[in-house]
Amino acid sequence: NKIAVFASGSGSNFQAIHDAIRNGKLAAELVLVVTDKPDAYVLRRAAAAGVEALALRPQDFISKADYERAILIELHSQGAEWLVLAGYMRLIGPVLLEAYPNRIVNIHPSLLPEFPGKDAIGQTLAAGREEAGVTVHFVDAGMDTGPIIAQRTFRLDNRDRQTVEEAVHRIEHELYPATLQKLFSRQ
Ligand code: GRF
Repeated sequence: NKIAVFASGSGSNFQAIHDAIRNGKLAAELVLVVTDKPDAYVLRRAAAAGVEALALRPQDFISKADYERAILIELHSQGAEWLVLAGYMRLIGPVLLEAYPNRIVNIHPSLLPEFPGKDAIGQTLAAGREEAGVTVHFVDAGMDTGPIIAQRTFRLDNRDRQTVEEAVHRIEHELYPATLQKLFSRQ
């Protein structure tokens, strides 16, 4: 199970996946980190973990299709079989969707289908929900819309935003590697 992680930011989920592999909890190989942000902290994590990284700025390409074709060349050369999105702040376009049918997954910090898109935690709090949660789902052309694979819920109990964010991350770091392991073992 050769996986490429796509991330635009801190990469704490990349780290959790890497740690789960190292600890024998996830049978996979991290073959590539892809980022659209050449200054993203995930690149430092990738370097520290000894994982190949590809940083390409979409602005440097004439189209999204061209940008994704450049990524695809590297995915193929590393033999990536799964694309694992972890805080990658772009929609996946037809080039990658067609190259990896049912092989692209994402993690999102809400109980989808509620609160897709940006600041899902803020949206959940603003809506006055009693529960928040995390969803792992297959990626399609929409924003956080593909079939749901796994979900975990927790009660908010009037916690402040920072505490909620910490709870979400703790759940993500456990749920993502565990869900990938299940997904790979049923293939
Ligand atoms: C996570 O909360 C994930 O659900 C969302 O973006 C965040 C990425 O965090 N899509 P990190 O970069 O993995 O720390």
